[in-house]
Amino acid sequence: MKVVIFGATGQTGRLLTGRALSDGHEVTVFVRDRARLDVPSGSVRVVQGDVLDAAAVDRAVLDQQAVLVALGSASRGSPPVLPQGIRHILDAMERHRVRRIIVLSAAGALREPAGSLGGSLGLTLARTFLRGVYREHRAMLEELRTRDLDWIAVRPVVLTNGPQTGRYRVVTEGIPQGGYRVSRADVADFIIRQLTSDEFVRKLPAISG
Ligand SMILES: NC(=O)c1ccc[n+]([C@@H]2O[C@H](COP(=O)([O-])OP(=O)(O)OC[C@H]3O[C@@H](n4cnc5c(N)ncnc54)[C@H](OP(=O)(O)O)[C@@H]3O)[C@@H](O)[C@H]2O)c1
Repeated sequence: MKVVIFGATGQTGRLLTGRALSDGHEVTVFVRDRARLDVPSGSVRVVQGDVLDAAAVDRAVLDQQAVLVALGSASRGSPPVLPQGIRHILDAMERHRVRRIIVLSAAGALREPAGSLGGSLGLTLARTFLRGVYREHRAMLEELRTRDLDWIAVRPVVLTNGPQTGRYRVVTEGIPQGGYRVSRADVADFIIRQLTSDEFVRKLPAISG
């Protein structure tokens, strides 16, 4: 499948890129700085740009069959990245008739309850200290939900750099009970599987270890 990955130089994006390549997909990466890429040269098509630049995003989405998004939010004082970035991506998908998009978001972005006392406490603290991050995720999800596309929004709990275990829990309402952490490698595994599954289309699965 021809897949474009936004955020391919990020911690989760790198894992996604590696998995997409090893699963035999034809990969395009959208990056601000190609020197930050961690793949053998020639193994991917590179489109360089900022997701806030609609024309650059359009070039990356042209001729693709699916889109993966693992973007980070803006640094303090900069304009929001996720809502504007997703708008550019979705507009380009509609123009070029690309239907499938899998987006990495965050558990708690919908103000959903955590399902346990410890989890609720953690979420309350995270929402307090990362208010801007959650605001961006919420706005991104609101935008996604308005579009008539095959979107899937993945909501992980706290991400770690632990190994891929293949043992993770997924729920479409709320957050898995007592699930505090999940590795980026397991999240990448789940996201890559969504390229060829319709189970979570137009849903917002939350994932935890
Ligand atoms: N940390 C957690 O516990 C946690 C939990 C749940 C959800 N999340 C969410 O998961 C997502 C991914 O996390 P992560 O740790 O993998 O992220 P990360 O390592 O910070 O990577 C973010 C990626 O986004 C790219 N990016 C940022 N702004 C961009 C722009 N304007 N144009 C193009 N690319 C841009 C970065 O590019 P550069 O390499 O050029 O900077 C990088 O590739 C984030 O949205 C985060 O909020 C995190």
